[in-house]
Amino acid sequence: MTLSGTTHPNTPAWHQLPNAPEPGKLLGQRDALQDGAVLLHEAFAASDEARQHPFRILLLRSGQDIKAYANRCAHFGVPLAAKQELMQFVPHVSLSCNVHYARYRWSDGICDRGDCEGDSLIAIPLDVDAQGAIRIAAVA
Ligand code: FES
Repeated sequence: MTLSGTTHPNTPAWHQLPNAPEPGKLLGQRDALQDGAVLLHEAFAASDEARQHPFRILLLRSGQDIKAYANRCAHFGVPLAAKQELMQFVPHVSLSCNVHYARYRWSDGICDRGDCEGDSLIAIPLDVDAQGAIRIAAVA
C-alpha cells in the first residue's frame, strides 16, 4: 500500500495550534542533537499567557537533516509522548505514539501503522542556517 499522507479537514496548521511560537523562533543548534535522535523540545510563544504553556515540538535529526513535528498524534490529538524518556522511535525510520502505538514515518510524518493510518503528524517548517541554528520558518 502506498500512503501519500492526509490530514483531517479540521486538523489545524502548526501555527494555529494553541501556544504556537512565532516564525523565526530559535529552537537550538543542530550539533546539540545526536544523529538519529528525537528530541522533545519546549518552545514558548511571546505572549504572557503562552509563556505559561510550552509548545512541544519533536525535533528529529538524520545526518544534516532536521525535521520538526508538533507533538500531537493524528489519532486523538494527544501528545505522542508526555516526556523525553517516553519517546518511542527507531532512529532514522519511525516514531510511535505512547497511547495506541500508531507508528509514523520519520521521513514525512505519515502514519503507516495504527488507527490513523494514512494521516500525518503536523509538520513544522524549519530554517537551518550555515552555522546550524534551527529556527521555525516563516508561514507560507
Ligand atoms: S492517541 Fe496516538 S495512537 Fe491513539
